Amino acid sequence: MTTDQIRINSTDTIDIKTDAIGIDSANTISINAQNLKKIYRRGSEEICAVNEVSLEIKKGEYVSFIGPSGSGKTTLINILGCLDNPSSGMLSIGQKKVFGEGKPLSEKLLTKIRRELFGYIFQKFYLIPTLTVIENVLLPCIFYKKEVADIKINGNNSDVAAMQRGAALLEMLGMENRMDHLPGQLSGGEMQRVAVARALINKPEILLADEPTGNLDSARSQEIGRLLRELNRKEQLTIILVTHNPELAKSADRIVELRDGRVFV
Ligand SMILES: Nc1ncnc2c1ncn2[C@@H]1O[C@H](COP(=O)(O)OP(=O)(O)OP(=O)(O)O)[C@@H](O)[C@H]1O
Ligand SMILES: [Mg+2]
Repeated sequence: MTTDQIRINSTDTIDIKTDAIGIDSANTISINAQNLKKIYRRGSEEICAVNEVSLEIKKGEYVSFIGPSGSGKTTLINILGCLDNPSSGMLSIGQKKVFGEGKPLSEKLLTKIRRELFGYIFQKFYLIPTLTVIENVLLPCIFYKKEVADIKINGNNSDVAAMQRGAALLEMLGMENRMDHLPGQLSGGEMQRVAVARALINKPEILLADEPTGNLDSARSQEIGRLLRELNRKEQLTIILVTHNPELAKSADRIVELRDGRVFV
């Protein structure tokens, strides 16, 4: 079986090929965007944050987005990650048209796509202050637990499996001694690492990271860079990384530069 089928209902499925075959095959494309535009309106003023952006990101590709502050990076990756809708243009994830002509996808289906395909790392962490580190990492599992071979331990005890994966991720990120701490007891860099572990708990197909090292010192930034590269190579994880760090940007397969909402190559 080379296809993961995520069942929405009997007539609505998303097919994402797990094996990349040939680079010309449509099924190797993870994300396809055509003429995406996002206009914000403030009174009579219009801001075109994303302006006619077309791009393809193949399955297993690691792409970094760079560009000056205000160039539209966050707006664009939020649209690519189905967190925001464009004003116009088309977006497909795998074979599924998410935005574009025709009937818009239901919010229920969009939520399913976000939960089951994507992992998100936000610059502001968004950790829950009253939950411990490990509880924050396991939070997405309340809503959805991906059934994957290596997190099925002791038959079907997926709670134990998720807990073990969470602990293993925190250990990999050097946070094994902080599992029972609350976010308020952590440094900015430590909080960021918790956010990284939380984004990976459900083994996403596509990881979106908006300045994941913005709060880390250079040694920790390089570590996160190495971790992303390793996940990309070992697990065929598609990664879209927004960064102002030129060294980190270079660790990707491809750099996309944005200026004034346009892709500038
Ligand atoms: N909700 C909003 N309402 C109005 N304008 C917005 C909104 N969000 C973003 N913008 C504007 O859209 C443009 C692009 O913003 P965006 O946050 O995507 O930039 P960015 O490249 O991520 O910047 P940074 O590097 O500072 O994070 C900016 O001019 C910004 O002021
Ligand atoms: Mg931004």
